[in-house]
Amino acid sequence: STNQKKTPLSLAFESIAGSRTDAVVVPEGYTAQVLVPWGTPLAGEATDWSGDLAMTAERQAQSVGMHHDGMHGFPLDEESASRRFVLALNNEYIDQQALWAPQGGPTNAEEGARPAEESRTEINAHGVTLVEVKRGDDGRWSHVQDSPYNRRFTSATEMELAGPVAGSDYVRTKFSPEGLLTRGTNNNCGNGFTPWGTYLACEENWPNIFVNTGERFADDARIGIPTERGRYGWETSAGDPSEQNDEFARFDITPRGADAGQDYRNEARTFGYQVEIDPYDGSRRAVKRTALGRFRHEGCWLGKLEPGKPVVFYSGHDARNEYIYKFVSAAAWDPADANRPGANFDRLAIGAKYLDEGTLYVARFDADGSGEWLPLTPQARTTDGRRLHQALGLAADDQAGIIINTCDAADLMGATPMDRPEWASVDPASGDVYITLTNNSKRTEAGSEATYTNEGGAIDELGVGFATAPINEANPRPDNGAGHIIRWREGSDEMRFAWEVFVFGAAATDGDNRSGLTEANQFASPDGLWFDDRGDGQGILWIQTDNGYEGVAEHTNDQLLAVVPGALEGGVVTPENQQHLKRFAVGPNGCEVTGIFATPDKTALFINIQHPGNWPASEDATRETQGSVRPRASTVVIQRQDGGPIAV
Ligand code: FEO
Ligand code: CA
Ligand code: CA
Ligand code: CA
Repeated sequence: STNQKKTPLSLAFESIAGSRTDAVVVPEGYTAQVLVPWGTPLAGEATDWSGDLAMTAERQAQSVGMHHDGMHGFPLDEESASRRFVLALNNEYIDQQALWAPQGGPTNAEEGARPAEESRTEINAHGVTLVEVKRGDDGRWSHVQDSPYNRRFTSATEMELAGPVAGSDYVRTKFSPEGLLTRGTNNNCGNGFTPWGTYLACEENWPNIFVNTGERFADDARIGIPTERGRYGWETSAGDPSEQNDEFARFDITPRGADAGQDYRNEARTFGYQVEIDPYDGSRRAVKRTALGRFRHEGCWLGKLEPGKPVVFYSGHDARNEYIYKFVSAAAWDPADANRPGANFDRLAIGAKYLDEGTLYVARFDADGSGEWLPLTPQARTTDGRRLHQALGLAADDQAGIIINTCDAADLMGATPMDRPEWASVDPASGDVYITLTNNSKRTEAGSEATYTNEGGAIDELGVGFATAPINEANPRPDNGAGHIIRWREGSDEMRFAWEVFVFGAAATDGDNRSGLTEANQFASPDGLWFDDRGDGQGILWIQTDNGYEGVAEHTNDQLLAVVPGALEGGVVTPENQQHLKRFAVGPNGCEVTGIFATPDKTALFINIQHPGNWPASEDATRETQGSVRPRASTVVIQRQDGGPIAV
């Protein structure tokens, strides 16, 4: 009957204890299986992995990349959607010691010229992997070697530029004098996916692969491009003269003359975007959608989708005291554009319709729990009343210039500096948006002055800026080591929203344990996040951690927690209702737990284990070999032994 109350969703597992072992730990009644670890061959008759395998550029180009991060599954048809799909997987960065373990480490990692073959191999270990995976009748998952869907995108793969920056003077290069093409995507961290069936790989710490030893541009200073040597020194490798001789030189963007066409100054301006990939069509290039802004994109998350309304995507800039953005499409959502798995249609043309034209906004969080989306358009008014294009010294119609200088534009509009925005996720029923603010060692006491370094050299090894900012209501803890998660709901007006803190990370023993966490659910540095819709307007919010916070790290490795927001008295995690927040899985030593989605029937939950210390070989290894096993980032499939849905 219409009066019948829906059964509230509840978590049907006991919170597991913290773990500091070299294994993935899951609740009783569940299994965890390693799938597609780094180096798994995708094509050809490549020899299988062995711990002493010498990686080559060619082999790496045909194998699963390194350091798995965001990912998503793309079904090949409706009927088999929970048993077989194309797994799209970001390979964020590399562990040079693991990559070059057989030879004892990388050559000239810190100074001197890198051997070209090593740089090429490292370039090929980055990017995105597409790999078909399937479940056997025994419930074990495997990848399909030689599937036509298997594909690699690396930091050298040719890609298209689209949106306001494409074809502008900012991106004319020797490689693409028209400014329509570039080579490679890099440091793809969190991810996104679209309702029309494409994957979004998001460029996060890309500035670090470039170097500018000369006169700096405003945008490369603001984004933190190194001034002495790129993160891996790829620019020092000599290119193969028989091929494009700028294979490696392109990473050195130092201006060399009056003419941009004679050097590589614009190469870095072809990075910093959301990269759209059609996982179904191997003939299509990836496309960088520049309208969604240029910064260190953590990910790209779809907002509430409604017919006849714009399509919305959210993205955080993961650096200390950087901002949260949303993109609102000019086109209204037409359900006829929804993905039809297996059907042959032009998904990237639909991508162009929704992602190349629209308005980019940045968020200001006000003290009263309301907020405003500030448009990043040439005519917008800055905090001191100027037009944004004037304040940036741009022509009145130069949206490309605003995109290139997204971060400076956001400063001028008065956006709120956040505690390192990482993943977001949206409850598709309510439209509530959750976002992790992982931590911020540069958040200062109330009343202190904000500082901006604007010095590319002033970044740490993660590429995270050293600007400081005093606490504000949305980022209320100075030196926020444990992080928190905020939530907002859009207003009826596209420019307004209402926000609140959903949960504060903490150690159980912390004095400032605002959500009342205990040993059963203490966590810090939330990073991955996924609202797992279970229908009836209910769902599980999954929280993954990337934790360097001592009070928690001494009790447990990085972990995966679950909470049903709808089951919480008061709606947010408080000391009174914190028992609904439960620890579901713990990763092996040294890793972070990231990347998450489930099959449509919710019987298999996929997560990624990134930068483990020795795992997965260590899980089977003897005590003596622990500590010296070559580690491999990997996907892990978690299933219930009885085949039922995860967690409920
Ligand atoms: Fe690559 Fe912000 O984590
Ligand atoms: Ca992350
Ligand atoms: Ca992180
Ligand atoms: Ca990471």
